[in-house]
Amino acid sequence: MLLFLLVLALVTWDQHSLIVRGERVMIYSGEFHPFRLPSPGLWLDVFQKIKAMGFTGVSFYTDWGLLEGNPGEVVTDGVWSLDQFFSAASEAGIYLIARPGPYINAETAAGGMPGWALRLNGTLRSTAPDYLNATVNYLSIIGKIIADAQITNGGPVIMVQPENEYSTWPGESFTQFPEQFNRQLMAFTEDRLRDAGIVVPFAVNDNENKGYFAAGSGLGAVDIYGIDAYPFRYDCAHPYVWPTYRFPTGWQTNHTAFSPSTPFTIMEFEGGSGDGWGGVGEDMCAILVNNEGIRVLFKNNYSFGVTIFNTYMIYGGTNWGNLGYHGGYTSYDYGASITEDRQIWREKYSEMKLQANFFKVSPAYLTATAGNVGNGSFVSTPAIAVTPLWGNGMKTNFYVARHADFTCTGNASYSLTVSTSIGNVTIPQLSGTLSMIGRDSKIHVTDYDVGGINLIYSTADIYTWIKTSGSGRVLILYGGLNETHEFAIPISVGKPKLSSGCAATVTKIGSSWVINWEVTAARQVVTIGDLTVYLLWRNEAYDIWPLELPAAVPISNYSSISKSMVIIKAGNLLRSVSIDGHNLHLTGDVNCTTTLEVIAAPSDSLTSITFNSNPLHTTKSSSGNLVATVGFEPPKTTLPDFSTSSCEWKYHDSLPELSPMYDDSLWINCSHTTTTNPWGKRTPTSLYASDYGFHTGSLIYRGHFTSNGKESNFLVNITGGVGFGYSVWLNSTFLGSWAGSGANQTWAQNFTLPSLQLREKYVFTILIDHMGQDEEAPGTDAIKYPRGLTYFALSGHSNLADAQWKITGNLGGEQYPDLARGPRNEGAMYAERMGWHLPSPPTQGWENRSPVTDGVDGAGVGFFTTSFELNMPDGWDVPLSFVFNGTRSGGEGTEGNYRVQLFVNGWQFGKYVNNLGPQTAFPVPEGILNYNGRNDVSLTLWSLDADGAKVGGFALVPQAIIKSGYSKPSLVESPKWTERKNAF
Ligand code: GAL
Repeated sequence: MLLFLLVLALVTWDQHSLIVRGERVMIYSGEFHPFRLPSPGLWLDVFQKIKAMGFTGVSFYTDWGLLEGNPGEVVTDGVWSLDQFFSAASEAGIYLIARPGPYINAETAAGGMPGWALRLNGTLRSTAPDYLNATVNYLSIIGKIIADAQITNGGPVIMVQPENEYSTWPGESFTQFPEQFNRQLMAFTEDRLRDAGIVVPFAVNDNENKGYFAAGSGLGAVDIYGIDAYPFRYDCAHPYVWPTYRFPTGWQTNHTAFSPSTPFTIMEFEGGSGDGWGGVGEDMCAILVNNEGIRVLFKNNYSFGVTIFNTYMIYGGTNWGNLGYHGGYTSYDYGASITEDRQIWREKYSEMKLQANFFKVSPAYLTATAGNVGNGSFVSTPAIAVTPLWGNGMKTNFYVARHADFTCTGNASYSLTVSTSIGNVTIPQLSGTLSMIGRDSKIHVTDYDVGGINLIYSTADIYTWIKTSGSGRVLILYGGLNETHEFAIPISVGKPKLSSGCAATVTKIGSSWVINWEVTAARQVVTIGDLTVYLLWRNEAYDIWPLELPAAVPISNYSSISKSMVIIKAGNLLRSVSIDGHNLHLTGDVNCTTTLEVIAAPSDSLTSITFNSNPLHTTKSSSGNLVATVGFEPPKTTLPDFSTSSCEWKYHDSLPELSPMYDDSLWINCSHTTTTNPWGKRTPTSLYASDYGFHTGSLIYRGHFTSNGKESNFLVNITGGVGFGYSVWLNSTFLGSWAGSGANQTWAQNFTLPSLQLREKYVFTILIDHMGQDEEAPGTDAIKYPRGLTYFALSGHSNLADAQWKITGNLGGEQYPDLARGPRNEGAMYAERMGWHLPSPPTQGWENRSPVTDGVDGAGVGFFTTSFELNMPDGWDVPLSFVFNGTRSGGEGTEGNYRVQLFVNGWQFGKYVNNLGPQTAFPVPEGILNYNGRNDVSLTLWSLDADGAKVGGFALVPQAIIKSGYSKPSLVESPKWTERKNAF
């Protein structure tokens, strides 16, 4: 029976690491949200780029709010289906950690809760029966979908995390277990997932790092205890300032205290950072958490012995269709290693690749024990902190070195004293000193096993090593330019031979050869018996790709220490490798003419190379390596410039509500005399948008009253979330706007009214930008913070009920008509309610008018639509962005207060706020964009200024031209416009 269970348990663990299919594996993972790249055909591309970094896993959230926008109707087809996500992960060889919430945070609107959950009486994420019941349908459906994709069913899912950072509850503390409130909620969520068939281990991400929900801690405890950490924080405006107050120390001690029987797990570790409205742009966040940050902070994590490690985000993607929370804009690039448009030029992509690959070939790390905080006894200077990891059973030790002040940008020299199989040594033994130049960290090793050859020590970081044919081994070491490094090898391995150009010093000391060198831009190679050691500058290592050869099922493409690998130098990207006979088949990408060089392979009889199935002409390099060149002749692509007259725009007014003829009888009356909202209400009937089923995009209110001749002022208090704006009209007279700021989520304003006619009927029209709901800490109900008109006063009317309010948001509210694009894609604007943003709108008889040269006159909203053809050649990946230019408004020279929504084939892929920014370029993925056929592009242009607005410039711009081995994504189903009979 026990044996049977052991066989069944494909995922087990001990205090050191996860064990998958009986084999220890470093779970080196990155976060990637399928819903932020709604082109399923591109998921494989992202997985391959993550796999090429040496990662073994990906962690992903699912967003309840996007799947169950209509209560009771969980939509899981089209772009919402995870089928291709699972199959792409398997194909790339990536294990998955599923995080279905139901609360996910993730900078999503309402933290991933559906809008209707805001109306629940009970506190969200509590054990209130209405909240628990609300989650059941979603959890059972998503639970089953994830269960079907578990490793036990042949899929990639190896772990599941219920809820998210569920570590605090006001008034409760984690020591109060076992029966407290939040423990019951956690247990309930876990039970629903187990009922749905989840058998793989559960994990928790305790952001308090207090042992909450650790195994054995009581009700709701998970299998694998993990923590979250964001030490760089989010101040992307000061990207060179590393905060010190969250620098991780003592994590191993905490872990041993809280969860001694599970591997040290970091479920989220900051791999980028976030920006918001009026901010500085995502590229600044990429600087805040750059390659140096990855070197210092990630290596610090390894010094604690982390073996399940997930970095958040590895690929951020897009907050398309209003899916984001109010604190972020359309781009969710996150300054991550892989850019929003799937490019890998950020240096930290390469830095992570060096680190992750090291762990793939270093099984000794997986059983090492962290020796705790920096210890001066190993190192010659207090300027350097060294934290050891001791080998267990295996003799390898790891010494993680950094500046004692981890933020230090200066240089320090040091030597290291360590005990090895040849006794205690102070290194370097020969000449020079080790150096820590600027923000850097090193992993020095002793008695490291290179496939049966003992590397007595190396001060240079190890990138990778493989077994070549026969008993050959190739090892790659790297360091920073001009650094001195040293390694030692037993004399029994052979006599070192230096390649031409290698200036290393070789000295025999006792029973070892000591090789000391200075890192140069030029490659240096030493051969010692069967072992060839490449001594590289880090930047050359960046261009080298260790690739796993496919294996037999069930390992197939997943990583395994027993797998054969090939090491190739190439340019932009290598995705996969296979060998048949003398032929080496590679797939990958190039962005210029690129030389491929076979550094090492398990076969010495390779004679030919194909790249993306094309045979290449091969030769031998001076050092005897097989080489070939991939040519690069970029195709000529013609892209539309929407600013010019060659582009025909059709125009329709999108605020007919301002016309005296407009009939709002089909609108919803704001008639609720009560609200469940914890903030209560200050008006006779609730005016909160969520009370009427509107949760996204924009909102329009209509307030009808009859004049008593005493009105002089109209006061409004409106909440739309950070970055929001609004405009107010009385009949067709513009009263004014709030243009928004990067700080306010609420803005009150008093408008002076023109003199009104006694006993005449009037109507206020208020258009509000809805920027998405907030996220929350458990127990705060912050998500429910209202959106919309929260209070008003009309002078001369002491009874607020004199004004009768109506509301609309997106057509249908929670019963949204466009299931393909989900519940959040549309807002309240007339053109959206009519569905004109969808492909092929009914433009017959519409005015020709350009958003760039004509724009809109006065305060109001115009809808502009055009179409164009693309014809991209096969085999080329050309990421495209729609780029807005300039701050031109009707009044030349002023900073135009205008807002634009960009719809591409019906998908809202941009909210551009001219007066706030910072985002001006909006990437739209292939698949949403039809790269070989017709595309429809529409803009809503909302001028918040009385003098109107024109878009300063608008063009489709290629961000890169890449000859690519990606599989071309199929077109995402994008239903066209059909008449909406019930639209008003
Ligand atoms: C974490 C949270 C993630 C994400 C991150 C910040 O605390 O679990 O979902 O919001 O912060 O990007």
